[in-house]
Amino acid sequence: MASPDPTLFDKVVNLCKRRSFVFPSAEIYGGFRSTYDYGPLGVLMLRNVKDAWWRSMVQLRSDVVGLDAAILSPPQVWEASGHLENFSDPLVDCTECKTRHREDQLDDPDTCPSCGKSGTFTEARAFNLMFKTQAGPVEGSGADVYLRPETAQGMFINFKNVLETSRKKPPFGIAQVGKSFRNEITPGNFVFRTREFEQMELEFFVPPDEANDWYQYWMQERHQWYLDLGIPEELIRLRAHDDDELSHYSSGTSDVEFLFPWGWGELEGIANRGDFDLVQHAKHSGQKLEYFDQGTGERYVPHCIEPAAGATRSMMAFLMAAYDEEQVNDDTRTVLRLHPRLAPYKIAVLPLSKKDTLLPKAEEILEMLQPHFMCDYDITQAIGKRYRRQDEIGTPYCVTIDFDSLDDDAVTVRERDSMDQERVPTSELVNYLTQQLAL
Ligand code: GAP
Repeated sequence: MASPDPTLFDKVVNLCKRRSFVFPSAEIYGGFRSTYDYGPLGVLMLRNVKDAWWRSMVQLRSDVVGLDAAILSPPQVWEASGHLENFSDPLVDCTECKTRHREDQLDDPDTCPSCGKSGTFTEARAFNLMFKTQAGPVEGSGADVYLRPETAQGMFINFKNVLETSRKKPPFGIAQVGKSFRNEITPGNFVFRTREFEQMELEFFVPPDEANDWYQYWMQERHQWYLDLGIPEELIRLRAHDDDELSHYSSGTSDVEFLFPWGWGELEGIANRGDFDLVQHAKHSGQKLEYFDQGTGERYVPHCIEPAAGATRSMMAFLMAAYDEEQVNDDTRTVLRLHPRLAPYKIAVLPLSKKDTLLPKAEEILEMLQPHFMCDYDITQAIGKRYRRQDEIGTPYCVTIDFDSLDDDAVTVRERDSMDQERVPTSELVNYLTQQLAL
């Protein structure tokens, strides 16, 4: 098995800041612990991760439809889902040094890792991870609302609406991408665990006797998705949960895990949720949440298979897997070997010099490419430096306009990984790049 480079974490975090992928949030005020803002390149890449997921889970399928549900939701939703009762971590306080810890993460449940004293912990208390706020001008329990801790419940509470309006029948799924919020006690490892993050979740509703087959199917599909987007096989694995790890709703869960520099970490959980959620919401809402097959006269509550991935966490894994340094002559080249679908820019348009004679041609080519691809345009510094800058942010192709371009109406196309260059007539450029990128 590959052992991760211990310096990789710092290198990627530094690159993220330096090249505007991810900034610490509210930095001008000293930062706001464990929250992050996605900069000009990060917003492009994160969007690409979410689009790649949406393409594979919604666009390329006829059995999945999309949803964008509200982030604010009333307590009834979380009462029914079990989150009010179960979505908590056990917390202990050290009476000696007044620090607070997650009991389930202590190496020794009797010894405080901060001050080293034994027997100083209070009894464990359950700490609910949901963010609670108030809706409207009136304070009090009647105005309580929650920021969703997962996107999943939006799909369950809209099951009836979607079933009645979309002409789908089980097996079918509802997909959603969006922000979720958890008051994590131990956020950390950069964007791996944050209090505000993005999820990409599918709730796939199936006839009960097909649930296990679909569970197996989604495990393989989701594992393959990461491989197809360039994560090497030795850095990604599927791991089945032990019984004592299962969530309150799950009869079986497997995680897709990535080998981070600190060890294996979860990118996605694929869970067999049975009929737990629809039964709970039917009970609490008084609505019938079931499927009636008019053909066979059969009525049943579908079971649900849920592949639940983190967009922000996956982006971090894609960056870690893509980061590479190689020796080129006397120089070290840093290159992000990102899959073209995930790369922030697909193309960089680079006039060889800033001379007025070249810029109109370069701008003409940029305008020709922009409707087709996300492009960068860079006219500063020597061409070699500009290539390196594009390598470092993972741009798959650079298009260079030189003085010959003015005569032969052709440009030089340089490929990121091999650094090979090819002369391509301007009239064929869009087709050529479309084929090479194979998006
Ligand atoms: N609906 C099921 C569910 O939410 P989960 O395993 O708690 O399952 C799914 O979350 C994914 O969301 C995780 O695999 C992870 O990628 C991402 N995720 C969860 N908590 C996160 C956090 N605090 N920060 C970043 N990503 C997180």
